[in-house]
Amino acid sequence: MPWKRATDPGRHLAVAAAIPRSCAGSKAPPGPLRASAMSRQDEDILTDLLIIGCGAAGASCALRAAQAGLSVVVLSNAADLSESSSDHAQGGIVARPPGDTADDLARDITAAGDGLCDEAAVRLLADSVPEIVDRFLVEELQVRFNRDPEGGLDFTQEAAHSRRRIAHADDATGHAICVRLLAAVATEPRIQVMARQSAVDLITIPHHSVEPSAIYREIECLGAYVLDQQTGETRRFLAPNTVLATGGVGQLYLHTTNPRVARADGLAMAYRAGADIVNAEYVQFHPTAFYHRDADRFLISESVRGEGAVLRNKRGEEFMAAYHPMGSLAPRDIVARAIHDEMLRHGDDYVLLDLSPVSMDPKVRFPTIHATCLQYGVDITREPVPVVPAAHYFCGGVRVDAWSRTSLRRLYAAGEVSCTGLHGANRLASTSLPEAILWGQRAGEDAARRHEPLDASFADRIAVWQDEGLTEEIDPLLIIQDWMMIKSTMWNYAGLVRNAKRLHRAVADLSYLAHRVEQFYRETKLADSLIGLRNGIIAAQIVADAARRNGTSRGCHYRQD
Ligand code: SIN
Repeated sequence: MPWKRATDPGRHLAVAAAIPRSCAGSKAPPGPLRASAMSRQDEDILTDLLIIGCGAAGASCALRAAQAGLSVVVLSNAADLSESSSDHAQGGIVARPPGDTADDLARDITAAGDGLCDEAAVRLLADSVPEIVDRFLVEELQVRFNRDPEGGLDFTQEAAHSRRRIAHADDATGHAICVRLLAAVATEPRIQVMARQSAVDLITIPHHSVEPSAIYREIECLGAYVLDQQTGETRRFLAPNTVLATGGVGQLYLHTTNPRVARADGLAMAYRAGADIVNAEYVQFHPTAFYHRDADRFLISESVRGEGAVLRNKRGEEFMAAYHPMGSLAPRDIVARAIHDEMLRHGDDYVLLDLSPVSMDPKVRFPTIHATCLQYGVDITREPVPVVPAAHYFCGGVRVDAWSRTSLRRLYAAGEVSCTGLHGANRLASTSLPEAILWGQRAGEDAARRHEPLDASFADRIAVWQDEGLTEEIDPLLIIQDWMMIKSTMWNYAGLVRNAKRLHRAVADLSYLAHRVEQFYRETKLADSLIGLRNGIIAAQIVADAARRNGTSRGCHYRQD
């Protein structure tokens, strides 16, 4: 059989699976080297900074790095650059209304994080909010947030915030921000954005070095192998620094508010390269995703409940009062579990969100939600919305410091793929956009500050991609079936309510599937769907294994046992 890849992650993963999660992969030996004698490719792309992912973190990083003089390449595996979780964010972004303080915000973030937040990360974000919202988004990018009658920002309410402090652009805040970010990126001549480019693996030394003595060197990242979906070619993108900004893991679950690109690519790539991953058991479930047989789950923003909407079961009972004094606006994990409980108790597929108490016209205040529900025959101005909980946000990720540096040299991570420590065991609503922007900017600034061009011959010392002779095309049914298995395993056994039995089953079933997927990957011509599946099964194992190891309920990791 022709060998296919420049790396052999199979062995790497097998070793890593047996070691504690907190250092997963980082001490694992590199896979056997499969380098080609010829080590330079005409199609190589060289840049000062490679950014994988084009949401709020990737775009903010690119802007700051380019403004500091670096040449930047930004990759997206989607055809449409607006396919990012940032773009899908509805409710808003924490801002600083008159009378609010950094201390108050820090207190709310810390309370939501349930004792696991990193104090320095919380302080950094809380102090930076005016800089991010007022200076960067409003003044520099001119994002059009809703305004109050006096012309100030309009603030809405979300669960677990001690006051109204969420700036918003109707119910499509992420989109309003991303549109302006991408417009700014497009006018910056030093940034090249490339769509339909799927990163396959990070290029790391020693794993991809052609020099046997490289095994004595500290792991460092020099770019990525990237599949061009249009030509089918896999090229080397080489850079002295690389940033992962690939978003979260929502697609590992049967129900998610995340777009299709949130399939954990960055997490799996970082894991294979040996980066530290932390807090992977903390997956936040949003209580209210639109439920309809024919529709992808679609977020029904928490700000809808912030403006007065209440949850009812199918019998019309306002059940949240029995679960928490804050009723429908209780912390997100409590509401999500209460809905789960209510559905199980009555054998229902969904509960209902009743907007009749909302004082504003829902069509005006929530135009996107109104239009989307209407497409599926639900008029939110006249009837309740069927909702279910759905995987929403990954609080764990690739461990980074205040400058977005991972545990590997020359590798940064920002946005949902990373774990800054800000969210601890559970995230406070509307803190992920400012986190993505802040840590994205800091990655760009740090990469510019530390930039040193690589010497001219470094490309000769890195293995080229080899997959000649592989002709077997992908059978799409295999991909669909394997994803169904991942999603249902994660939803049922590593979802909202976890216990030892379920998690053991999850780990065992996923491990069995992982071997099959790896075989599939090695024998089949590369395609974006295969890259996604391979990353999905690895990320699912990371999350399930972390959940299995942690027997303590905390934040959004809820152990029934
Ligand atoms: C929402 O609009 O409910 C989502 C806000 C968030 O998750 O930050």
